[in-house]
This record gives sequence, structure tokens and C-alpha cells, in this order.
Amino acid sequence: MRAASVDRKPLTLHRLREMHASGEKIAMLTCYDAAFAQVLDGAGVDCLLVGDSLGMVLQGRPSTVPVTLEHMAYHTECVARGNRTAWVVADLPFGSYQESAEQALRSATALMQAGAHMVKLEGGGWTAPTVRFLVERGIPVCAHLGLTPQSVHALGGYRIQGRGDEAAATLKRHARELADAGAAMLVLELIPSTLGKAVTAELTIPVIGIGAGPQCSGQVLVLHDMLGLTAGKLPRFVRNFMEGSADVTVAVRRFVADVKRGAFPDPELHAYLA
Ligand code: KIV
Repeated sequence: MRAASVDRKPLTLHRLREMHASGEKIAMLTCYDAAFAQVLDGAGVDCLLVGDSLGMVLQGRPSTVPVTLEHMAYHTECVARGNRTAWVVADLPFGSYQESAEQALRSATALMQAGAHMVKLEGGGWTAPTVRFLVERGIPVCAHLGLTPQSVHALGGYRIQGRGDEAAATLKRHARELADAGAAMLVLELIPSTLGKAVTAELTIPVIGIGAGPQCSGQVLVLHDMLGLTAGKLPRFVRNFMEGSADVTVAVRRFVADVKRGAFPDPELHAYLA
């Protein structure tokens, strides 16, 4: 791997809001270590997500459920050391925020002290007061709706969410409540493109899609998926950017460029119908 370098100042929430307001798409990738953080930052990725997908990607587990706060803090520290300018988002893992807003604050504090700029938590409805509690205490929060992998057993598998009028209306309501509670960003996973488009149009915060169609304010992929390193059948929304790329840096640069110019995701190849 070779770390290219973009010439930019460290990204801030203010800058991300400016990008969103001006219509510039936000490119996000998951990242779990210092070496990749250096490469991704150098290749111009705006946001590095220390996702609890590390449980599956790095630890070989069947889901994100067993990932602990200690795992997340360790990988957040590693990413923060390799990163120079990208905005670092870290996942609050399963069981680290569900108990109470105070528990969420303690867990978020651990991730912020490990080097995160923002924490992400999954789910809608009951999460809005927790989001407000964290935001009021100075912690930027990214919400996550649609397919929320920590609830995989409750959802009955990795299935498309938000299909049908009722499910779509509930997701829209949850998105509004989270934005009203102060969430500064929203990840939407595995939902029909029409719903991704509608939520993005309604909210004033950036909406980052993963299998949520091309009309979101930005896109995120799991790094190992987009580098073609994940074995087995991949979801439809994934594109292998290593195909036709000379090396990892070129692949990551292509991802950034394709997200920015709206060429990824392709509605014909990577999107879901209602
Ligand atoms: O953990 C993760 O990688 C995520 C993405 C799928 C958005 O939350």
C-alpha cells in the first residue's frame, strides 16, 4: 500500500455541513487500523468509520453483536494514530448504550477519548432522547436506520428494510426525530432508493447511504468489501473498486471520485426497489 496525500485541512463538522449545503457528496469508508487510515485519508476519503463491522471483517464473527467497547476503543485509537485530516466516526457497540443515556455517555466518552470525532448508534424511536443527551454534552452523533446489524436477530436476518408504506413512514418519522434530537449525520442501510431519496430530501443533515440509492448526500462501504477481500456472496450494493485498479490507493481514489461525481452507486446495479 502506498499513502498518497491530499492537501486539505482536517475536516470538521462545520466543513461537512458546508459540503452538504453545497451539494458535495461525502465519501466514507470503514477503517480499523492505522495503516489503512493513512492510505484512506491520503486518498481523500472524507470520513473514516470505525465500524463494529470489524467483528465480522477482522474477527471472523458471524455478526457485530459480540463486539465490545474495548474492541472499539482499541481500533479507534489505531485509526486516529494513522489519520491526519479525515473525520473519524466510531460505532457504539451492542450493549454499550441501550441501558441508559448515562451508559451511552460513558461509552461515547471512551470512544471520543480514543480519538473519535463523532459516535454512531443504531436504531430509531427510543434512541432520540439518548442522541439529545449526548449532543447536549458536546458529543457529535451519527444515527443509523434501516438495516441495523446489531438487531440482526430481531430483524430475522440481513433483510431489506423500509419496504411498504407503514415501514417507510416509520423510518421517516424516526429519521426526523433523530435529526430534531441533534444528530449531525444519518447512515441509512439497505432500504429502497426511493426511501433513501425521500429521507435525504426531507432532512437538513447529511444522509450517508449504504444500499440506500444514489440520491443520498454521501456513500459508505465496508473497506474490505470494496477492495474485493471479502469471501462469499456480497450484497448487491457493493462494488469491487480493485477491479481495474493498479493498487489500493487507486481503488480508494476511484471510490472517492465516483461518489463525488454521482457515478457510484449505479441505480441499475447497486440499488433496491420499493
Ligand atoms: O459497522 C459498520 O461497518 C457500519 C456500516 C455498515 C455503515 O455501520
